[in-house]
Amino acid sequence: MLDTNIEEVVQEDFEFATVLQHYGIDFFKCKNLTIKEACAGNNVEAQRVLAYKNIEGPNLSKDGNVNSRSDVTQIVDTLIKSHDYFINNKLPDLNQLILNLKPEYFTESEKSKCEEIKFLFADFSFKFIWHMRLEEKGYFDYVNKLAIASTSARECPKEWLEVILNSFSLSEFEMAHGNDDDELVAIGEITNNYDLKESDHLYLSVLYKELQKFEKELIQHARIEDSVLLPKAIELENILRQPL
Ligand SMILES: [Fe+2]
Ligand SMILES: [Fe+2]
Repeated sequence: MLDTNIEEVVQEDFEFATVLQHYGIDFFKCKNLTIKEACAGNNVEAQRVLAYKNIEGPNLSKDGNVNSRSDVTQIVDTLIKSHDYFINNKLPDLNQLILNLKPEYFTESEKSKCEEIKFLFADFSFKFIWHMRLEEKGYFDYVNKLAIASTSARECPKEWLEVILNSFSLSEFEMAHGNDDDELVAIGEITNNYDLKESDHLYLSVLYKELQKFEKELIQHARIEDSVLLPKAIELENILRQPL
């Protein structure tokens, strides 16, 4: 593996490009070097790069660890960990890839897509970070309060329960949720849903596959928020409303 050409490795495993990026190695500039040569040239221990590649944790959202049988607080905890993963790993990786995107990676007629993708993704990132922060301060915080109140509903003073139940609207959240990804949808449209041809540039192949993977992670994340956590939160609300 250490003597394999980087282009070859990345063609087989597009995620290796961002692993190299973590170590400050530009996969595209080093594509004609072997892993050993690229690491030596960047003062990086090749074994560490390969070890990182094999760690599942930093490269994966944690949302797959919960389902409808999971405890409410465990679901909230997992969703927050996924937010941290999106903010600390995924967005910086994608932003770095997009920052280094160049018009010459596109065919002549599609060169304008380079600037469009840069503009759209910058806008999306900004809105997405706000989306996550507001979710944590509003939705998750409220669900955690419901969970705490439900474990001691009998002892919880009626006035406190009222304050908690009136502090957030799950129906408003449900209506507003999921309206912050227009720019990502637009990137999907201009790239024809990340369609790749055999002749497409290696850089585009890595970027489109990373974006497609990210989109799938976002769909799974939103599904947990909408279809797993929300019904449980509504159920808790209904139970807590009974003694009022
Ligand atoms: Fe979220
Ligand atoms: Fe969300």
